Amino acid sequence: MPGIVIVGSQWGDEGKGKATDQLGDRVDYTVRYSGGNNAGHTLVVNGERYALHLLPSGILNPHSTPVIGNGVVIDLDVLFEEVDGLTARGVDTTKLLVSANAHIITEYHRVLDRVTERFLGSRRIGTTGRGIGPAYSDKINRLGIRVQDLFDPSILRQKVEAALDQKNQLLVKVYNRRAIDPNEVIDNLLGHAERLRPHVADVPLVLNRALDADQVVLFEGAQAHHLDVDHGTYPYVTSSNPIAAGACIGAGVGPTRIDRVIGIAKAYTTRVGEGPFPTELLDDDGEKLRTDGHEFGTTTGRKRRCGWFDAPVVEVAARINGFTDIFLTKLDILSGWKTIPVCVGYEVNGVRVDRVPLTQTDFHHAVPVYEYLDGWAEDISGAREFSDLPKTCQAYVRRLEELVGVRISGIGVGPSREQVVMLHDLI
Ligand code: GDP
Ligand code: IMO
Ligand code: MG
Repeated sequence: MPGIVIVGSQWGDEGKGKATDQLGDRVDYTVRYSGGNNAGHTLVVNGERYALHLLPSGILNPHSTPVIGNGVVIDLDVLFEEVDGLTARGVDTTKLLVSANAHIITEYHRVLDRVTERFLGSRRIGTTGRGIGPAYSDKINRLGIRVQDLFDPSILRQKVEAALDQKNQLLVKVYNRRAIDPNEVIDNLLGHAERLRPHVADVPLVLNRALDADQVVLFEGAQAHHLDVDHGTYPYVTSSNPIAAGACIGAGVGPTRIDRVIGIAKAYTTRVGEGPFPTELLDDDGEKLRTDGHEFGTTTGRKRRCGWFDAPVVEVAARINGFTDIFLTKLDILSGWKTIPVCVGYEVNGVRVDRVPLTQTDFHHAVPVYEYLDGWAEDISGAREFSDLPKTCQAYVRRLEELVGVRISGIGVGPSREQVVMLHDLI
């Protein structure tokens, strides 16, 4: 069972980092295939807390080789800051492999991300401000800078100058900002080149050979289904394809190499940034979920919007990603509610629908229809077997499984590596 994808089923921050970590020593390669340092994956290992943004969570597992695929956009300042931070804590980062085709986030991408958001005003996306959208736009617009360009300084200069010829017009004439000096950008990038060189690899070749040899390759998703630029709540999405199919494009493996797709679902729902969120709670209940679940962004520290579990949201993710399993996280956070509402459909303009509506306008107006499940009072953070969970908690899990139509194979009952209840092996 060698090719496994882990993917968020809601709007991010489902606990993908912890789920990746869960697979542990059996994983030979852990691969980031999309997004950049907009991600924030928090892991608690042996009582130590790690927050990773760009590196795959598998970097904490000494057996696994961490890989950054071509589908990722890399901010080299952030990459080496993260590498240095982990090295200082005794984590070995020397095995890191980086695709020569991955695109680079530069100063002008970061600046453009922030100024375009400001200009959008009330129509802003609520981006992380890390330059993600502008870097992907340049990639599609064929104006991007790739890792391999760092090793040909004259090509690098041509590309940076070509990009800045255009960006500086925008920055100065539209956004009223200062022009960016190409030399500053080039010097910054070349300053990282020699350090990056030993990590640059033919990632598709390495991964396909590993799969041929029946090694376990884990494709670690960032963001989530509903933040996908094609399948998410556009335009309130990120600029890449976090869905499972994105692993093939963003790492360079064929669809036939993916054997298993594990959807990560939080036992309730959260979202950072703007965009529709039918089950959002704007009252004290939402505040309680936020406080109990420590729902503050790992990357930007923003308050996460909180609401009840939305079954159609996870169900559509299951279908489009082809989930074989679900790993349900943060079930422990729901202890103490007398009843727990679960969204099983919506009312749209007075009409009851069971699935996520076809159009964004309808989704914006969708009023959740709830089923009220019995809660449980017990602290479940010490549970290790399904039978350790209170009966009503077990029934909650079983009902979600039924509504989404995919088996729940693992349950998170706390942030630490060992706080988990496994129902089916994930490898
Ligand atoms: P990711 O972006 O999907 O990796 O998720 P984040 O790391 O941004 O957010 C998930 C947060 O929940 C992190 O702080 C994790 O340590 C924490 N977490 C993950 N699983 C569980 C769980 O089962 N229970 C609790 N209480 N916390 C969890
Ligand atoms: P992880 O991997 C939650 C959201 C931003 C914003 C939108 C676009 O930790 O789950 P971007 O900077 O990507 O252009 O912002 O996407 N977003 C995330 N929300 N978790 C993430 O990553 C996210 N990455 C981006 O808040 O709404
Ligand atoms: Mg996160």
